[in-house]
Amino acid sequence: AQRKQIDAVLAPFLLSLETLRDVKNKMRTELEYGLKRETQDRATVKMLPTYVCGTPDGTENGKYLALDLGGTNFRVLLVKIRGGRRRSVRMYNKIFAIPLEIMQGTGEELFDHIVQCIADFLEYMGIKGARLPLGFTFSFPCRQASIDKGTLVGWTKGFKATDCEGEDVVDMLREAIRRRNEFDLDIVAVVNDTVGTMMTCGYEDPNCEIGLIAGTGSNVCYMEDMKNIEIVEGNEGKMCINTEWGGFGDNGCIDNIRTKYDKEVDEGSLNAGKQRYEKMTSGMYLGEIVRQILIDLTKQGLLFRGQISESLRKRGIFETKFLSQIESDRLALLQVRRILQQLGLDSTCEDSIIVKEVCGAVSRRAAQLCGAGLAAIVEKKRENRGVEHLQITVGVDGTLYKLHPHFSRILQETVKELAPRCDVTFMLSEDGSGKGAALITAVAKRFHNIGQ
Ligand code: BG6
Ligand code: GLC
Repeated sequence: AQRKQIDAVLAPFLLSLETLRDVKNKMRTELEYGLKRETQDRATVKMLPTYVCGTPDGTENGKYLALDLGGTNFRVLLVKIRGGRRRSVRMYNKIFAIPLEIMQGTGEELFDHIVQCIADFLEYMGIKGARLPLGFTFSFPCRQASIDKGTLVGWTKGFKATDCEGEDVVDMLREAIRRRNEFDLDIVAVVNDTVGTMMTCGYEDPNCEIGLIAGTGSNVCYMEDMKNIEIVEGNEGKMCINTEWGGFGDNGCIDNIRTKYDKEVDEGSLNAGKQRYEKMTSGMYLGEIVRQILIDLTKQGLLFRGQISESLRKRGIFETKFLSQIESDRLALLQVRRILQQLGLDSTCEDSIIVKEVCGAVSRRAAQLCGAGLAAIVEKKRENRGVEHLQITVGVDGTLYKLHPHFSRILQETVKELAPRCDVTFMLSEDGSGKGAALITAVAKRFHNIGQ
């Protein structure tokens, strides 16, 4: 009887192939909506033009600063790029903390903090006097009218600083630099992390035309034919589109697969009603879904002797790294119990089996949904090129993809199943998106100088 109850709770997390195909098709519809002028307002997948029009070609050169804001770590980097036959990239970086009260304080405080970190970094590197060009990886949806302008559409993930939405983040950064009045920087490019990742990987593999993040948040960018991007003038060549697919489903189109646990997670989040697909597929939320299920199972008397502990009530206890550990096949159950204990959850051996099962169901669904979305993208790329078979590389980053023992495999299997005519190579980004941001800055700077 107990088994039946657990199965019933987890049943909605098992998605049939048919359901996944349906998700892929709906994603495809949304991608098209986002590209067309008439339907753009209705699209939940925003399809933001990035003004990045090509992948790196190896001639990029120079010394750049890069900022990387919006993932698990905030980094400031110095990137030295040497072009030509003996091309190389050297990077120096420092991680800085962004305290919660800054993430959710005022915009001015947030940008002052960022500039404070840049100052510390310049000091640390001994380059305080240099006026370097800067590429800003800003991992939130931005409406861009050029490579060096980006209006924040809305915060996602754990950020909620006031007075930023609707503002140009490059201006905000410039103003914070001016307020500090200590050094000058030339902010050349603002890029999404997916775009930075695609570029980082594109430097090694020119066939990399898609960037995927499966981390704190979930998102994809890809090179789209200009003629398909109605909202940007011109029909020649390609431009990278930041899909912001995390918002997929915000119109209710995937409500048929959302469970009551998904709804609870959404309601308890900083941006209720928004980023519904992201909330089913990314690191910031998977642990929360697990926690909601565990609470329910406990209420039903199936777990933790029916006692909901203080810890289980705490939001955010299951970070991606814990899920990854719990699901590792190399881990003995005793170790799973130890992890749960660390989290303040006193469990029996049986409890730990159930917890592991719950984690597996949630992360498996996440990987499959992400795979269904990606299948829609690669199929679109295949049709764009007008080929029977497409060979393409996807640059990937994010802690969920990197740390989780099964996520990447299930994601890849799903793409293969749903897009059989595409031969997709997944390339892990080892260097983060800062390198890509610097490469984009190098290209933008070159164009800029020619223009002058
Ligand atoms: C990093 C990139 O490696 O991965 C960031 O440099 C990106 O730009 C991040 O945001 C995504 O992963 P996570 O798990 O840190 O959100
Ligand atoms: C969120 C952001 C998006 C970013 C993604 C991954 O979905 O809105 O811009 O790319 O997280 O970090």
